[in-house]
Amino acid sequence: MSAPLLKVENLCVNYGHIEAARGISIEVGEGEFVGMIGSNGAGKSSALKAIAGVVKPASGSITLGGKPVQGLASHEMVHQGVALVPEGRFVFADQSVEDNLILGGFVQAQRSGVAALRDDIDRMFQLFPRLKERRTQQAGSLSGGEQQMLVIARGLMSHPRLLLIDEVSLGLAPKILDFLFPVLVDLNRQGLSILLVEQIATRALAVTSRAYVMENGNVKISGRSSDLVKDAAVMEAYLGKQH
Ligand SMILES: Nc1ncnc2c1ncn2[C@@H]1O[C@H](COP(=O)(O)OP(=O)(O)OP(=O)(O)O)[C@@H](O)[C@H]1O
Ligand SMILES: [Mg+2]
Repeated sequence: MSAPLLKVENLCVNYGHIEAARGISIEVGEGEFVGMIGSNGAGKSSALKAIAGVVKPASGSITLGGKPVQGLASHEMVHQGVALVPEGRFVFADQSVEDNLILGGFVQAQRSGVAALRDDIDRMFQLFPRLKERRTQQAGSLSGGEQQMLVIARGLMSHPRLLLIDEVSLGLAPKILDFLFPVLVDLNRQGLSILLVEQIATRALAVTSRAYVMENGNVKISGRSSDLVKDAAVMEAYLGKQH
C-alpha cells in the first residue's frame, strides 16, 4: 500500500479522568473504505472526533497525506479535506434542506466561488433525489432517514478527501439502510476514502474492505472485512445488534 491517507498512532482521548481512547492506531489508505466496529463505549466516536478536530487528543499523532494534523480545530480539518458526519444526525432544524447544504459548502465556496455551489447542490440532489423533492422544507421536519441523507450530503459539500461517518444506521429502518449503504459504496468507488463507525457489524463488514474491532478504548482485532465476518469469535463477541 502507498503511504496511507490517514495514519493515527497511539491516539489517546480523555474526558476528565475517563480514558475514552487508549492508544488507538489505525490507517485508511487512499481510496479505501474502512470500518470501525465494537461495543458501546469502546471509543469509536471519540476516535472519529479526535481525527476531525472536534476533541483534542491527550496524546498520539494523526497525519493526513503525511502531514501532521493532530490538534487542529474542526474547521481547519474541513480545510484539510476531512468531513465528519457525526452521530445523532444533527441538522440545522429551522433551515431549509437547501440552506443546510449551502452551510456545508461554505469552505468549498471560498475556494471555488459561489457559482460552483449550485453544481454541488445539484450533485447532492442527484445522489439523494428525496432531498431534491424536499429542498425548501425545514430540515427539522424531515424523516430520520432523510435527515441522515442530508447530514451525509452536507459533509460531501466540502469536497472531502476523507469522510468520517459515525453510526449511519442508528434508529433507521432496514429499508433506508438498503438505500444508504450502496450510496456510500458508490462514493467510495468514485475515489472517496471513508472511515465508517457502525454498530451493525454485518452491515459495516459487507461494504468495507478492512475493519478494526474496538474494545475498551483500543483496537482489539483488525483484518479484512471478508475474514472478520467469517470469524465466529468476532461475530459472537462484538456484533451486538444486527439487521
Ligand atoms: N463528553 C464526554 N464526557 C465524558 N465521557 C465521555 C464523553 N463522551 C464519551 N465519553 C465516555 O468515553 C467512553 C468512550 O465513548 P465513545 O462515545 O467514544 O464510545 P463509542 O464506541 O462511540 O460508543 P457508542 O457505540 O455507544 O456510540 C465511554 O465510556 C463514554 O461514556
Ligand atoms: Mg459512538
